[in-house]
Amino acid sequence: MDDLIQSIDAAPDLQALDALRVAALGKSGSVTAMLKSLGAMDPAQRAAEGPKIHGLREAVTAAIAAKKAALENAELDRRLATERLDLSLPAPVCPSGSVHPVSQVLDELAEIFADLGFAVAEGPEIEEQWYNFTALNMPESHPARAMHDTFYCEPREPGEEPRVLRTHTSPVQIRAMTSQPPPIRIIAPGRVYRSDSDATHTPMFHQIEGLVIDKGIHLGHLKWTLETFLKAFFERDDVAIRMIPSYFPFTEPSADVHVGWSWENGRRVIGGSENWMEVLGSGMVHPRVIANCGLDPDQWQGFAFGTGVDRLAMLKYGMSDLRAFFDGDLRWLKHYGFNALSVPTLSAGVGA
Ligand code: PHE
Repeated sequence: MDDLIQSIDAAPDLQALDALRVAALGKSGSVTAMLKSLGAMDPAQRAAEGPKIHGLREAVTAAIAAKKAALENAELDRRLATERLDLSLPAPVCPSGSVHPVSQVLDELAEIFADLGFAVAEGPEIEEQWYNFTALNMPESHPARAMHDTFYCEPREPGEEPRVLRTHTSPVQIRAMTSQPPPIRIIAPGRVYRSDSDATHTPMFHQIEGLVIDKGIHLGHLKWTLETFLKAFFERDDVAIRMIPSYFPFTEPSADVHVGWSWENGRRVIGGSENWMEVLGSGMVHPRVIANCGLDPDQWQGFAFGTGVDRLAMLKYGMSDLRAFFDGDLRWLKHYGFNALSVPTLSAGVGA
């Protein structure tokens, strides 16, 4: 018995200890055999041997439990000593993604316009012709419909008017005006589609629309809003704009907005008034569009503007080929992408 307790105390690891347990207390273990032998004894012998054998079993069980706890503690101490984490080591290099310039610019625009009190509105990319054209004062056979190289969808059932891939974000103006009471101040960023492809055109690109509907709104509000937006976006106070008379069916009067730019160290940068380039379409919302949405144009007026997000990104961050935006080339993304954790904020400078 002392032998058994000694070898339990000397067991080098949990595995050896368990082998000893099986050899003593298992089905055909030595202690088990002694317990079984009690049955064959006469009462006097059993009365003498019984307490000894049961005492032995208890002692062995207790010795095994104590040794097990000791071995486990030793194992824990060993792991605590060896598996130390050195918090002063630099973090391991992990593969990390980057934010696409279009997403970055969309975040910047949302931040700038949120500060001016604009909410973000959305609409479907597969759009009904009424929203994309008709309600925007482009009835069927209106020549302006041909200005957009429209993708038409197959009708879902015979006789249904084919839906289109929206050719601009302007249908979101209609969705906003027909779904909420004025005053309205929204921007509508999103994908738009036209059948066109070269270095400055891709069949899918991004636009952002702005819409204000309220009482007593005039061109001055539009000009101030665009100037304020462009200054915040290009992070320069010397951004100059010119409004050139233009035509859109859904605005009257309409204006193309040109922004001044100059050469700086061989690069085109926005600012100053040496040269001009067109960056936005805009105008006062056509009274007929307001009426098409069930509002009284004598009571409500507004302005709208629209611009290409990809082009804004190219101008601000100096990319030259639009097609690279949609190639998914990791090297390009690494070079032009943004850190996922540096979310643009006005206080930090939206492009920072
Ligand atoms: N939807 C026009 C375009 O795609 C842009 C625009 C929007 C013009 C709003 C005026 C007002 O070219």
